[in-house]
Amino acid sequence: MAILVTGGAGYIGTHTCVELLNEGHDIVVVDNFSNSHRESLQRVTEITGQTFPIYAFDLLEKEELARVFEENDIEAVIHFAGLKAVGESVEEPLWYYANNVISTVILCEVMKNYNVKNLVFSSSATVYGNPNEVPITEDHLLTATNPYGRTKLMIEDMLRDLCLSDAGWSIALLRYFNPIGAHESGRIGESPNGIPNNLMPYISQVAIGKLERLNVFGNDYPTEDGTGVRDYIHVVDLAEGHCRALEKIQTSTGVEAYNLGTGRGYSVFEMIAAFEIASDKLIPYSILKRRPGDVAACYANPIKAEKELGWKASRGIQQMCQDTWRWQAGNPNGYEENNILKPQRKPPVLNKAADLFMPASK
Ligand code: NAD
Ligand code: UD1
Repeated sequence: MAILVTGGAGYIGTHTCVELLNEGHDIVVVDNFSNSHRESLQRVTEITGQTFPIYAFDLLEKEELARVFEENDIEAVIHFAGLKAVGESVEEPLWYYANNVISTVILCEVMKNYNVKNLVFSSSATVYGNPNEVPITEDHLLTATNPYGRTKLMIEDMLRDLCLSDAGWSIALLRYFNPIGAHESGRIGESPNGIPNNLMPYISQVAIGKLERLNVFGNDYPTEDGTGVRDYIHVVDLAEGHCRALEKIQTSTGVEAYNLGTGRGYSVFEMIAAFEIASDKLIPYSILKRRPGDVAACYANPIKAEKELGWKASRGIQQMCQDTWRWQAGNPNGYEENNILKPQRKPPVLNKAADLFMPASK
């Protein structure tokens, strides 16, 4: 029996593959490498000493996906595959709805055809929109402020409907806060395309000298030092959370959402200071105006995951920064050889809807 990991070549996927293999699971990876490199999976093998089947295709290709279920004995799916850049989702909403929502419909259809009804889904704290209060519990109002967030909300709704329609399904919706850090080996980590949007990869590229200075988006928020506060979580803690969620869904039915965060918020200034200590580099910065769409403070109440999954984040901010720095210093260009960046990504030309929804051949 094997766990199908969609998007397994990506940042969180690779770290989860390592933990799954270390815990004795067999895995099968599907990825279209639209935002990742084959090298990342070679390094999963290097770290764990284990090989596993890798399928390179787009989840929109239903027949290819059915072939994976035909050729492997899949017991559960961890579904990471998705596009995740907020700004890009505003510019290319159709791409995001097709890639994230339609591919999940197809995945669930194929799972249903093969009677595999255990699913762990990558949701996001973005489903809380501009939170009314912090720390955020799972029963907080759900809303979205951009197409990326709406794809996560739509998928969550769809998966809740699926569980209502058939009590055989068991689904965990994992709402990640801000994943950072890297595997302690320094061999896998986050390898963003082009100039990073997120704080941690930006800071680490300033530290390595690829970027000149950090732009701090606003120092006039109603927070202790005026900068935005977030719940940064070590990606290996997050990966372990997936292993615990997998155990949970295999012994229960229905759908549950879980916050995967630490419960502690750090400001941008605190993150700069922590990274300066970890890297022994100075991080020059300028204060800019607020980034549209940003919220002042966002951090989790992680108690439900602790109670029901037996999971709690254990790695602190210094380890998050040290591990990020080890990865960045050892791989200044991420998985890109010689700093050759991938060409500008473009949405693929979609098949006809009729092609997308062809019944799976069994
Ligand atoms: P990532 O981009 O590194 O990994 C996603 C992987 O999915 C990539 O390898 C990409 O090539 C693949 N993929 C995308 N669309 C695909 C498709 N249609 N078919 C096959 N493969 C496809 O992203 P990540 O940071 O590892 O995030 C994983 C998941 O977690 C995503 O769904 C993301 O929305 C969610 N998430 C991420 C964060 C974060 O800060 N990283 C926060 C909250 C939620
Ligand atoms: C962003 C996304 C969110 C997504 C999350 C993880 C937006 C508006 N939100 O969240 O939907 O789920 O990433 O992928 O894009 N900051 C700077 N300078 C920078 C970058 C960030 O000051 O160059 C600040 C931000 O204002 C924020 C904090 O650092 O206060 C964290 O930013 P970021 O890492 O982008 O994460 P989120 O804003 O939480």
